[in-house]
Amino acid sequence: MTIRIDYSNMIGEAIGGIPETEWTAVESRFESAHAGFQALRQSGSVGFADIVRDEALRDQAINYALLAKGRYDDVVILGIGGSALGPIALRTALRPSGWNMLTNESRDGFPRLHVLDNVDPETIAALLERLQLPRTLFIVTSKSGGTAETMSQFLIVHHRLASQGLLIEDHVVFVTDPAQGALRPLAHQLQVPALDIPPSVGGRFSVLTPVGTLPAALIGIDVAKLLEGAAAMVDRCETSKLGDNPAGVYASLQWLADTRHGKVINVFMPYSDPLRDFADWFVQLWAESLGKHLADGSSVGQTPVPAVGATDQHSQVQLFMEGPKNKVVTFVAVDERKTDLTIPYGFKEVKELGYLGGHSLSELIDIEQRATAGALAKRGRPNLTIHLEHVDEWHVGGLMMLLELATAYAGQLYGIDAFNQPGVELGKRFAYAMLGRPGAEDARKEWESLPPADARWSV
Ligand code: PA5
Repeated sequence: MTIRIDYSNMIGEAIGGIPETEWTAVESRFESAHAGFQALRQSGSVGFADIVRDEALRDQAINYALLAKGRYDDVVILGIGGSALGPIALRTALRPSGWNMLTNESRDGFPRLHVLDNVDPETIAALLERLQLPRTLFIVTSKSGGTAETMSQFLIVHHRLASQGLLIEDHVVFVTDPAQGALRPLAHQLQVPALDIPPSVGGRFSVLTPVGTLPAALIGIDVAKLLEGAAAMVDRCETSKLGDNPAGVYASLQWLADTRHGKVINVFMPYSDPLRDFADWFVQLWAESLGKHLADGSSVGQTPVPAVGATDQHSQVQLFMEGPKNKVVTFVAVDERKTDLTIPYGFKEVKELGYLGGHSLSELIDIEQRATAGALAKRGRPNLTIHLEHVDEWHVGGLMMLLELATAYAGQLYGIDAFNQPGVELGKRFAYAMLGRPGAEDARKEWESLPPADARWSV
C-alpha cells in the first residue's frame, strides 16, 4: 500500500521548474510552517488530522449505518460545499461505476446515494418526484447549522414527509456541530438523531468525520479502512523534515511555484474516472482555504482547475502545453485498476487501429498520462504525479489527508488562515437582506446603496 509523489518534473530550470538551490533553501521555511500547524493542532483549534483516530466519532457513523441497514433504498444528502463534495467524491471513488443506476441486487442491498449540493429547483423537484419517501433517508449536513441552501432543502423535505404522514425521526438524521447552530436544538425538538462534526473541523476539512463517513458507511464503504489510510498519512507527515513529508513537499512545491515562478494555477488531473469527482473536492479545499487577503491587503492563492485524463487531453491540454506558462499540473496515476479490458486485434492493415491490439485499456491510460507529463516537461511546463497503488478505501483516505495537510501547510507558508472563509460573507449577507432574514437590516442598506445596473452596458 503506497502513495508516492514523483516531483522530478518540478525541479530544475531546464523544465521551467524550481531551481535545486531554491528547493533546498525552502527546507527551513517548511520547518516553521510545520511548527505553525502543529501548534494549531496542539491548541485544539484545528482537529482534522486528529479526528481520524477518534474511535467514538467513527463508531457514530458505523453504528447508525448498522441500524439503518435494509431500511432505505435511497439516501439523500441535504447540504452544500464542504458538506457535499466529500461524500460525492467517496461515492464515485469507492463504489462501482454508475452506483445509483445499479439494481438493488448489484448494490448488495445498500441504498443509492444522492447529494443535492445546490438549490436549483429543477434537480430537487425531479429527485423528490422519483423517490419513494417511505424508503428514503435524508441526511441534513451543516456544520454551522444555518446555511440558507441547506435549510431550504430541509424545509422542503420536512414538509413533504409531513404531508405523507411519515415520521421525521425515521427519515431524517442531522450531521452538525455538537453545540453551535440551529440544527442541534432542532434535533432535540424533533427527536431526530444527530451525529457530530467536531468543533475543530471546518466544512471543507470534514470529509473524514460523519459528514463523509456516515453516507460512506450507509452505502457499504469500509470506513475503518478509509480512516486507517488517513491516519497512516498523518503519521508520515509528523516529521518536519521536508524531503520525508509528502504533504510538506506538495505544499512547498506549489507555494514556490506560485509565489516565485508565477504558477498561479494548479490543475488537478487524475487519470481515473473513479477520481473524477475527487478533483472537485480538491478544488474547493485549495480555493476556499488559500484564496485570501494578507494583512497588507494584497491577495494570495493559486486557482485550482479540475481536469480528468485522458478526457481533457482532448479539451484543456492544448492550453496547458502552449498557453500562458502560469500552471502546475498535478497528475494522479493509478498503478492497479480494479478491472481491465484487453483491446482485441483487428484491422491490422489500418495504421490507426492495427497497433492497438493486444494492449490493455489500463496500459493505454497509464501511457497517456506518462506521455502528457513528459510532453509538458519537455515544453518547460512543470508537473508532478501522485501515484496511488489502488483506488480503495486506504488509498483514498490517505490521499484526502495528504491534500488536507498540504492545504494546512500551504496556509502557513502563505501566512494566511486556511480555515476561515471571510470572503463569502458579504454575498451571504446581501442574500439574507434580500430574503428578509432578521438581523440583516444593515446589509439591506448596503445592498440598496449599490449603483443600479446601467442600461448602456446591457445587450
Ligand atoms: O468549507 C466550508 O466551510 C464551506 O464550504 C461550507 O462547507 C459550506 O459553506 C456549507 O456550510 P455548512 O456546513 O455550515 O452548512
